[in-house]
Amino acid sequence: MKELVNKPKSLSIIERKWWHAATVYQIYPRSFCDSNGDGIGDIPGIIGRLDYLQSLGVTVLWLSPIYKSPMDDNGYDISDYQNIADEFGTLADFDKLVAEARQRGIGILLDLVVNHTSDEHPWFVESRGSRESRLRDFYIWRPPSADGGPPNDLTSSFGGSAWTLDPRTGEYYLHLFSRRQPDLNWKNPEVRSEIYRMMNWWLDRGIAGFRMDVIDLIGKEVDAGITADGPHLHDYLQEMNRETFGERDVLTVGEAWSATPDSALLYSGRDRRELSMVFQFEYVTQSWDETHGKWRPKPVDLVKLKAVLGKWQHALAEDGWNSLFWGNHDLPRAVSRYGDATGYHVESAKMLATVLHLMKGTPFIYQGEEIGMTNVSFTSLNQYKDIETLNMHRLHVEAGLSTEDFIRGANESGRDNARTPMQWSADPHGGFTTGSPWIEVNPNYATLNAASQVSDDRSIWAHYRELVSLRKQHPVIVYGRYQAWLDHHPDVFVYTRTLDDEELLVIANFTPRTITIELPDELHRRGRPLISNYSPVGEVGETLGLGPYEAFALLSSRLAP
Ligand code: NOJ
Repeated sequence: MKELVNKPKSLSIIERKWWHAATVYQIYPRSFCDSNGDGIGDIPGIIGRLDYLQSLGVTVLWLSPIYKSPMDDNGYDISDYQNIADEFGTLADFDKLVAEARQRGIGILLDLVVNHTSDEHPWFVESRGSRESRLRDFYIWRPPSADGGPPNDLTSSFGGSAWTLDPRTGEYYLHLFSRRQPDLNWKNPEVRSEIYRMMNWWLDRGIAGFRMDVIDLIGKEVDAGITADGPHLHDYLQEMNRETFGERDVLTVGEAWSATPDSALLYSGRDRRELSMVFQFEYVTQSWDETHGKWRPKPVDLVKLKAVLGKWQHALAEDGWNSLFWGNHDLPRAVSRYGDATGYHVESAKMLATVLHLMKGTPFIYQGEEIGMTNVSFTSLNQYKDIETLNMHRLHVEAGLSTEDFIRGANESGRDNARTPMQWSADPHGGFTTGSPWIEVNPNYATLNAASQVSDDRSIWAHYRELVSLRKQHPVIVYGRYQAWLDHHPDVFVYTRTLDDEELLVIANFTPRTITIELPDELHRRGRPLISNYSPVGEVGETLGLGPYEAFALLSSRLAP
């Protein structure tokens, strides 16, 4: 009898959930597919692309907000939680999307934006009416400070003070984002129960769960200057869980810029009854400039990147769960930020996907990432549409920066990079619309588009499809124990995943150079080549040569020879 080497201890501590083996695809509806030629993506457009998504293999779609909204922040400013924005379609369209997606084995996640509403939400309209308004306490109002200025120095993520004076009542209201996004007062039990009622209304329509916008902000203690991670945050989430999705088999993921590995366990630990997982951004913000933040990003430092991702892998190894993503609608395009969008576009896009999708956690693909869409190179300010970028431009120019310099930063880090329309084909506007798109299409659509990739087995798209499918087939990808190797090597990312007698070895060259690395004895092996972006690799020994951005995974048995 052959013996198992280092048989891992109890691997069944984590209760298995359907979303552990799922891959989620994020849709930014405004930029995904326009069915009626008004230049704005819509729900019928999404329905028309369900076959595409099914063949990619994803089983969950997260839709950025589709609710009624004045679109000050492209829908993250909601004026009616129980209705659909006209430009996106109707409730009937939405129900059809849920049904058609379900037929293809795909669930729909809605974006829950409940830290704030739009200033056009009837609650806010009523609240601002008078100090005695029945709904005054739905929002956060404070009298001016002694000098007539804002109550304190809290700032908005979009720049400037987080307080705006409303002349009608002479008080300030809080908005951690734009002044058109007033923060709800979560201390008010009526606010919470209205939100839970609304959530149940959507859950009853058959959705598969929620992505929760800036959820770490809802427990804020404004007067103490605390915004993220406030003292009541987890009480509210436990209450939300009890009152809404707790008994339903759904996926919930909270956006939490403040999350640490310890707090991630509070959100997603098995005895906590809060969320399935959070999005953490530690590896994103670690490469931001100390003074200018994301507008002056530092080059990616692979040793630091590995350290942070590895720390999260270990922290949530036996309790809680990780989300895995390189991009979203707020972040630059993955291949532009972490890879090489010009010299080694295909190789580096596949390499990044390999490294991410074979870690432990639930991977999220941001629309267009599966074809390697890249950042844009806008040259003039009027090409940008994002409220954050436009506000920040004003502030940076006031502070002495030239518009030219600002544009350089925006082309690296601005949110519009992720929001240019999905590049479906080489047709005008990338096949996104027959009209005039709300934001310019990246001109590289002529060669970089989905149509040319779905029929090519060697495309980035085919590589993503393979990764999504491997996760469904191999429990070692879903549950295997993560171990990193060559932590201090500046050029390669190497890790193993181990489950029972199977071990997966993942090796990735993060540089545009051909390199040779030395591997420790424990990694020498023969096995089954699972995936690669060059020729299949079935054996590794003491030294290993890797092409620019080469990445592969090798599956082997841990049974002693
Ligand atoms: C986070 C969202 O991802 C972002 O797009 C939005 O602007 C803010 N929250 C405010 O809702």
